[in-house]
Amino acid sequence: MKSVAIKGVREFIIKDVPEPQKEEGKVLIKVHKTGICGSDLHYFELGNPVGLVMGHEYAGTVLDNGGREDLKVGDRVTALPISPCGHCEACLSGNIHYCAETWTHGSGLSLDNPGGLAPMLSVRSDMVFKLPDNMSDEEGALVEPTAVGYHAINLADIDVGDDVLVIGAGVIGLMCAMFAKKSGASNVVISETNEARGEAAVKLGVADNWINAKDEKVMNDYLNTFDKVLECCGNSPAVNSAMNLVKAGGKVILVGVSMLPINFNSIQTVMKEITVIGAIAYKKEEFAKCIDMIANKEIEVDKFISKIVTLEDVQSCYEELTSGTSNSIKILVDPNK
Ligand SMILES: NC(=O)c1ccc[n+]([C@@H]2O[C@H](COP(=O)([O-])OP(=O)(O)OC[C@H]3O[C@@H](n4cnc5c(N)ncnc54)[C@H](O)[C@@H]3O)[C@@H](O)[C@H]2O)c1
Ligand SMILES: [Zn+2]
Ligand SMILES: [Zn+2]
Repeated sequence: MKSVAIKGVREFIIKDVPEPQKEEGKVLIKVHKTGICGSDLHYFELGNPVGLVMGHEYAGTVLDNGGREDLKVGDRVTALPISPCGHCEACLSGNIHYCAETWTHGSGLSLDNPGGLAPMLSVRSDMVFKLPDNMSDEEGALVEPTAVGYHAINLADIDVGDDVLVIGAGVIGLMCAMFAKKSGASNVVISETNEARGEAAVKLGVADNWINAKDEKVMNDYLNTFDKVLECCGNSPAVNSAMNLVKAGGKVILVGVSMLPINFNSIQTVMKEITVIGAIAYKKEEFAKCIDMIANKEIEVDKFISKIVTLEDVQSCYEELTSGTSNSIKILVDPNK
């Protein structure tokens, strides 16, 4: 089968690789749709690890259940792309996202578990969730990023009437904005450096308004304004704007991931007694809850999909998504086309 792997800095290679085989304890999946995530863009820019087959947001059908009796061939599924050990203190307390093993063998996140940028993959059976019949493959591929936003909002603990700022209108920021509104925030503002994405956030109905993070005057007008700020970019200017724009006594949730150290003016955090919380992934029950919310039409996530492309298009789509000016939001890959 064909699969797309990292070749070097900003470069992919399409390779013929052997199909994954049936294995006890692993579900073999025919991949229908795979999302490109903002975290994948970091790996693309670093060109590392070479050989990584990305794609940790996917939906497909079961080809072999690997011994998981409640799954049958043809069932539509998605999975948590993580590898918690199952027996440490974190795992036993339900906080699988704290487990030291969580990211070491992730699906689409590690060399030993290739992800959905290929027509088939094999994933730990205890991470697999069945998708309801009324849920599309596209929605199934969006469960994972939905769960990231849901977990961040649970940590933000939005109060009714809160003024909320979300920094960055990629899918993660849009999910956070959507859940902030649903949790009772009276005003949700998005800041963006990419005008097309700022405008899209308002058009999609998840933010009341957007501000241009490159406009210093506008950013100054909003100093010390927001009760809760969710940082969904993972860079120093974004983290600094979070500290500047949150109110004294407010809360900043860091969702953006940075491979490099972040520089920020810590005096703001001290003087304003800002509560800073990191947010990573989700609990299993949050993932399950997102499947329910999408299936019940409580939330609409397929509106974030801009286009569906082929494996051959992956290189150009990553270039587009790292250009800083793309008006695409979520790009899905259909590895069978
Ligand atoms: N914590 C987690 O569990 C988790 C999970 C998934 C993704 N992430 C991270 O969250 C971040 C967002 O993911 P995404 O898929 O939405 O990525 P994305 O790249 O699609 O979106 C990031 C957006 O931030 C904007 N931006 C950059 N600098 C900015 C600034 N200073 N002010 C305002 N906007 C700015 C960009 O224009 C872009 O639209 C990434 O860092 C990703 O790695 C974290
Ligand atoms: Zn992701
Ligand atoms: Zn563990």
